[in-house]
Amino acid sequence: MKTKITEMLGIDYPVIAAPMFLVSNPELVAAVSEAGGLGTFPALNYRTPEQFEEGLKLVKSLTNKPYGVNIITNKSNIYQLKHLEICIRHKVPVIITSLGSPKQVIGQAHKIGSKVFCDVTNLDYAKKVEGLGADAVVAVGYGAGGHAGKIVGSILVPWLVENLNIPVIAAGGIADGKTLLSALALGAEAGYMGTRFIACTETAVNEAYKESILASTPEDIVFTARVTGTHANFINTPYLEGMGTELGFLERFWNRFSFTRKWFKMYKGYRAMKGMGKSASTGKKKAWKDVWSAGQTVGLIQDTKPAAEILREVVREYSETKKKLP
Ligand SMILES: Cc1cc2nc3c(=O)[nH]c(=O)nc-3n(C[C@H](O)[C@H](O)[C@H](O)COP(=O)(O)O)c2cc1C
Repeated sequence: MKTKITEMLGIDYPVIAAPMFLVSNPELVAAVSEAGGLGTFPALNYRTPEQFEEGLKLVKSLTNKPYGVNIITNKSNIYQLKHLEICIRHKVPVIITSLGSPKQVIGQAHKIGSKVFCDVTNLDYAKKVEGLGADAVVAVGYGAGGHAGKIVGSILVPWLVENLNIPVIAAGGIADGKTLLSALALGAEAGYMGTRFIACTETAVNEAYKESILASTPEDIVFTARVTGTHANFINTPYLEGMGTELGFLERFWNRFSFTRKWFKMYKGYRAMKGMGKSASTGKKKAWKDVWSAGQTVGLIQDTKPAAEILREVVREYSETKKKLP
């Protein structure tokens, strides 16, 4: 399967295991990269930059294939410069930026020949990062796990493809061969799969979280800014329902002005990370305050299996579906 992204990175399949906070561990990253896709993980999965560097070393010891690291580039990540310095020192092949400007990352990564992909949810921002020199954009559509856009992927992807000169990677709604095929038909050069990989053998998250991925339907996914301060998708629970999906009066006030917004997002982000950290940790009993992020693809996920098997099935189903098309 040759696309601009497989050629750019020298990988076999246009499938990227998306970076997922607390979920993407070195074992998952290495398994996907070894199987011919691109494994990625967020630097913020580690409490300190030193621990992140240890995690990075572990990934490098498990695979010689390309892999990626996600750096959150807005103010909520107080370690972003340190994360970047470590990525550059270790010559991380792909850096994915999200939630903030990729300018500094692009400048430094390009000096050592690494590629930079930037999360975008609309054309304005996509054009901005293209102008800054991004190597590809990740078009995060409505229904994606984690922070998601408000435009459905089936519109966002062709819209960006039409208006940009760099490759577009489709994120949100891809969990099998059929959905990957549809993304490539829309002009995407790769599919970015998050939620599907939560339910895999390699991830070390709470079993109740994995079971909830298998049991949930797309109707159970709630799009809300209440948890992190930015719109994201979560599995519905009575706790989330009680919270409501819209920001409260005071939160809207803090979110209104750029100075207070910065501190509001830092505070919300910090609290959310703590809560999600507790909810995802293994060996812990299910609690009513659990907050689990996932996208609408939960409706397409029926089993937990090794990441390499998921990738093989995606590729097989992609080919079979392509042949069966009228
Ligand atoms: C549990 C979870 C955690 C996530 N954490 C991050 C993150 O730390 N950084 C990031 O850029 N995206 C994060 N995302 C978004 C994914 O990278 C990706 O955009 C999304 O999962 C794609 O949609 P899908 O879940 O429908 O496959 C997260 C998604 C999930 C489900």
